[in-house]
Amino acid sequence: MSDSKVLVLVGSLRAASVNRQLAELATESAPAGVALELFDRLGELPFYNEDIDKSEEDGGVPEPVAALREVAGHADAALIVTPEYNGSIPGVLKNAIDWLSRPFGDGALKDKPLAVVGAALGQYGGVWAHDETRKSFGLAGPRVVEDLDLSIPAASLDGKHPRESTEVAARLREIVGKLAAEIG
Ligand SMILES: Cc1cc2nc3c(=O)[nH]c(=O)nc-3n(C[C@H](O)[C@H](O)[C@H](O)COP(=O)(O)O)c2cc1C
Repeated sequence: MSDSKVLVLVGSLRAASVNRQLAELATESAPAGVALELFDRLGELPFYNEDIDKSEEDGGVPEPVAALREVAGHADAALIVTPEYNGSIPGVLKNAIDWLSRPFGDGALKDKPLAVVGAALGQYGGVWAHDETRKSFGLAGPRVVEDLDLSIPAASLDGKHPRESTEVAARLREIVGKLAAEIG
């Protein structure tokens, strides 16, 4: 049997992103039979615009959007790893949610389990952004698994890769395992 696939989206485009490092750690934490796949092209997506969200017959969508929808369509679940920007979802991630939410009621992640984790500088670790990401994806089609949550105050990592934190590594491993178990 082929591996279950978990699409990973990171809400930061920064090369040295702590959230990208968390995504790496999540990938290393995958149980046997589960493959995590990072879609690393969120910065290439145009801003959502209904005028360019065309059906195949009308010429289709821009290539990066088609690529996102394709990997999302083949995924069995999704893991979102994001910081918080100004108390909310980074624009690059919100834009991806908007693209994934269409066609309305039939998006590529429809009914698939999805979990949201991440790190941010503030003392609450970006929990506002994480809650809003859950809310937004909850309207966009996936089945959000609310209790698979992890909001890490970045200072607690002490400038080190998150894999060096036993606590973070254990919780992330638990989340990835439980998310995989949600796959029907
Ligand atoms: C535009 C912007 C807005 C930010 N707003 C918040 C915020 O509201 N809350 C917070 O905890 N951190 C905020 N931060 C700090 C980020 O949490 C911090 O830069 C974090 O490391 C970004 O994640 P990354 O390392 O994955 O890029 C903000 C950073 C930027 C660049």
